[in-house]
Amino acid sequence: MGRELSANEELAVKSIFQGIDVNSLYVQKNPNDIHGETIRGFKKEKPDNSDAVISHFISCTLLWLAREDAKRGKHLKKDFSEDEMQYPDNVYVAKSHLVTDHLTHLRRDTTKLRHFRSHSDELCLSLFREAVADLNIFDAPVTNPLVKEMGAESIKQPKLVEEVIVIPILRSGLAMLNPVMSTLTKSKIGFAGLERDDDTAIASEYYCKLPEITENSVIIITDPMLATGGTAAQLIRKINSGPIQPKEIRMVCVVAAPEGINALNKEFGNIKIFTAAVDSHLNGSFYIVPGLGDYGDRYFGTE
Ligand code: URA
Repeated sequence: MGRELSANEELAVKSIFQGIDVNSLYVQKNPNDIHGETIRGFKKEKPDNSDAVISHFISCTLLWLAREDAKRGKHLKKDFSEDEMQYPDNVYVAKSHLVTDHLTHLRRDTTKLRHFRSHSDELCLSLFREAVADLNIFDAPVTNPLVKEMGAESIKQPKLVEEVIVIPILRSGLAMLNPVMSTLTKSKIGFAGLERDDDTAIASEYYCKLPEITENSVIIITDPMLATGGTAAQLIRKINSGPIQPKEIRMVCVVAAPEGINALNKEFGNIKIFTAAVDSHLNGSFYIVPGLGDYGDRYFGTE
């Protein structure tokens, strides 16, 4: 049998899977695994406190930790420090319990259409607030009768400098438009129709209508599931090849896969990604695991 889980591995498993008996887990060396020591299992052949799905989730979590570790250190170590379990600096994972509560509802397959929509809208509202929180402001003169009562003509109040352009990637990016309309009321909206081939995950463009982009534009791309990053990358390439470069491009998604984050980071370096969670990995059909299924289908009721 393999080794016991380290304290940090136990922490990671416990934080994601409540009620799992971590003492029954072990890590085993597997010569067929490129990471060497990532295979995990239960000490007992058929554990009575778990089922195959839970066992699979644990595998995913530990595999993700091992991958991250292997990427950073090019070898596997026995322990993972708190720092090593952090995401790259450009990834902002919402910490609010309200957001994680909404996400839990979205993940649950029994959540009905109308509740899926309202949890999604609420969650995205928080993400958009986060995504514009650090945009630049300038002092704008503001007046009203009470300002004049103070003996002043006007007072200086902060106002956003940058003009925000939101571009949902069709179709599921549209599921995030409702909260955009209520928070970023002055933002211009573009539309990018990119469809990914279910077998290859390669995206092809079938529609694109973008507002004028200026040096002052901060573009926020929305796609609830950042899976391979292929569609977002294609859109970013298109924007970058335009005549005027925007000030910044950001991405807001509900769940991100490490694969999608790595793909965007590798190609574009420093695009800020705002998300409610970074999940374990992509499965063979390029779905995020544990994820929540097809976001568009669940939000638009086309399941
Ligand atoms: N798109 C989705 O809707 N879900 C996934 O898990 C991945 C891509």
